[in-house]
Amino acid sequence: EIEQKALFIIFGGTGDLAKRKLYPSLFQLYKKGILKDNFAIIGTARRPWSDEHLQEVVKEAIEGDEAAVSLGAEFASHFYYQSHNVNDTEHYVTLRKLAEKLDEKYQIEGNRLFYLAMSPRFFGTIAQHLKSQKIVTTKGYNRVIVEKPFGRDFESAKDLNDSISKYFPEEDFFRIDHYLGKEMIQNIMALRFSNNLFRAVWNNRYIDNIQITLSEALGVEERAGYYETAGALRDMVQNHILQIISLLTMNMPASYSESDIRREKIYALKSLKKYSAVKVAENFVRAQYSAGDGQIGYLQENEIANDSTTETFVAGKLFVNNENFSGVPIYIRTGKRLTKKTTRIDISFKEMETSFFDSKKLGRNILTINVEPEGKVFLQTNIKKIGQGFDLVPSLMELQLNNENVVVPEAYEKLLLDALLGDATNFAHWEEVAYAWKFVDSIRKAWDDGNGNLAEYPCGSMGPRESEELLERDGHQWVFDG
Ligand code: BG6
Repeated sequence: EIEQKALFIIFGGTGDLAKRKLYPSLFQLYKKGILKDNFAIIGTARRPWSDEHLQEVVKEAIEGDEAAVSLGAEFASHFYYQSHNVNDTEHYVTLRKLAEKLDEKYQIEGNRLFYLAMSPRFFGTIAQHLKSQKIVTTKGYNRVIVEKPFGRDFESAKDLNDSISKYFPEEDFFRIDHYLGKEMIQNIMALRFSNNLFRAVWNNRYIDNIQITLSEALGVEERAGYYETAGALRDMVQNHILQIISLLTMNMPASYSESDIRREKIYALKSLKKYSAVKVAENFVRAQYSAGDGQIGYLQENEIANDSTTETFVAGKLFVNNENFSGVPIYIRTGKRLTKKTTRIDISFKEMETSFFDSKKLGRNILTINVEPEGKVFLQTNIKKIGQGFDLVPSLMELQLNNENVVVPEAYEKLLLDALLGDATNFAHWEEVAYAWKFVDSIRKAWDDGNGNLAEYPCGSMGPRESEELLERDGHQWVFDG
């Protein structure tokens, strides 16, 4: 990889995301020589930290990495801290001076990445000031990377988008959905489009149903305030799950390029079938965790109102009404405090009637993309049982990922590199975000109007009974049973 010259300005530089994801990922890029001499990072936030303090925090963030022993101090020396009130114009003047000084010192040639990892209500004012106070340069590139949540419905997302796109054109606007940086999620396109075998059967003639599970063992942790305004539908379905659906069901893009891929994803999301309010109640399940398995219920968590109706679990049945997928149910579910952390996609193929095997029941072919924890792909097949007679047994084929010795990069590392290279393929385009919100809004509205009850499930289960029933009604069951 070639060395990149860039100045990062991270708004929210004292935050949890910066410490857990951004600093370690930047260090990986440093280890690989992608960030080398000509880079600097300004962390800004309200707190009155010093450069030294930020550098200590950075060193702590990368502590687990062996290479930090030899490279950590040098890496951390590229970090600077600027205490900043995002509403105070004066502060942007100071920030500009620091940016100019560092640009000069590290010979960065005007390339800037503004990373917005704080409350979205400040994004507009930050974008405006970056422009008016000339922190955006005229020499290099100026890109803005925006963390979630990207709005809480279509309207607020549009306002947010407008407030930034006034100052940054779409090609410089990188909306993070970190699932798009995950290796196995990126593998969906490889599997689908590079294997004739899968291409041939990737449609409603052969696929019976698709199941997507994003389960978490954790609860709301320290994010009660945010989670109360979101809930599982907004937190996981609007972004991650709908993005996965678009990758699974889009038509084959004309080329592997940002614009062609995004175009097809947009069409897929535009083709999501909309439900009437009554149908929402039939096709979506929402629920909240109650005490169980040694864990307290959602209503007992800190900072959660004891009559909160926020859902911590959603299951649903969706359709993408495009040429290849109309009629294929896509079952989704996601929730907090489920049995374990698992991200997987199960593609269940149709059973074909045959008289060859007479009364024997054939197992279904199921292609499983296990995103987490395994990072593997499996194909469930039938095979002859060894020995006399002609009995069948299920057999699991595992697709080896090429070169198992390579460490799979973290999603954030790949996304940061993409942003450095100006490649927005694995970021959400505004139209994707917009269609996803419109779909989610229609479900939310039906719920708010009193359609569909809030069910309950004990911590450590795979969700409420209603989630099983959603599939049973169609003669199916969840392939992954926790
Ligand atoms: C985030 C959600 O987008 O994704 C969190 O806000 C969730 O609630 C997280 O825990 C899950 O991400 P990952 O990468 O751990 O599956």
